[in-house]
Amino acid sequence: MSTDIQPFAGRRAFITGGGTGIGRAAAVTLAGQGAFVTVAGRTEATLQETIEQICAGGGDGQAVLCDVSDEQSVADAVAAAAGENEELDIAVNSAGVSGGDALRPLADYDTAQFDRMIAIDLRGTFLSMKYELALMAGKGSGAIVNVGSGTSLVGVPGFAGYVAAKHGVAGLTKAAALDYGGMGVRVNTVAAGLVETPLVATGRSPEVMAARIAQHPLGRIAQAQEIADAIVWLCSEQSSFVTGAVVPVDGGYTVH
Ligand SMILES: NC(=O)c1ccc[n+]([C@@H]2O[C@H](COP(=O)([O-])OP(=O)(O)OC[C@H]3O[C@@H](n4cnc5c(N)ncnc54)[C@H](O)[C@@H]3O)[C@@H](O)[C@H]2O)c1
Repeated sequence: MSTDIQPFAGRRAFITGGGTGIGRAAAVTLAGQGAFVTVAGRTEATLQETIEQICAGGGDGQAVLCDVSDEQSVADAVAAAAGENEELDIAVNSAGVSGGDALRPLADYDTAQFDRMIAIDLRGTFLSMKYELALMAGKGSGAIVNVGSGTSLVGVPGFAGYVAAKHGVAGLTKAAALDYGGMGVRVNTVAAGLVETPLVATGRSPEVMAARIAQHPLGRIAQAQEIADAIVWLCSEQSSFVTGAVVPVDGGYTVH
């Protein structure tokens, strides 16, 4: 929803995975505060729904199809987000897949599943950052927020691929923060706890969900907006001295 406060007016934002969940909530919030938002993902229909929500709130944006595991697709999507002036101010890398509930100790972990986690969650984030950072470095300013997970900070039994990929996202964040801090670009990760989105809604029994929720000291699942609010803060001037951080937004999940 559009607000009277428009801190992102005149800014261009690019959001992968912007058709659903956390990415959509971040897209709608940033657009409501004045950013021109490009949402990127694999499904035209959901991306268009996000744009409809943005427009209904008085904001503006566009949808581009993009597979973050495909370098050319990412390059093209980032270029579309930057527009003819080739400027990008904000990027939120939210595209990702989870390991589902097929929990396996590492020796039994499916290799194809591991490769998929790395290709989308880790390499996809790398590719997105690569093209986003090139533009931001040229401009001398910018903010990138990667959507990590509690598994960016701690291990989870049976979840080797996702844990490795999300730890990798934290590593990319720290490396890029060092590479680009001197160029005015900040790079951070939100380490989200369990969030009610399509990612966790499918294929999980009530028992599994209850057990997952019980691991969060606040005793509940988050709404996507709660993660988006932290993302928007990390994109804003209010976090101007924060870079290279992996910020838990997890209901206390990583405390113990
Ligand atoms: N929901 C949770 O509990 C939770 C917890 C921690 C971290 N996360 C992370 O949050 C991020 C967003 O997930 P979400 O919970 O909003 O779920 P979601 O499924 O709604 O969002 C993920 C989005 O990524 C897109 N996507 C998947 N593969 C893609 C690809 N190859 N190219 C482009 N887009 C692709 C999907 O289409 C979807 O729109 C993910 O990186 C996820 O790992 C989620």
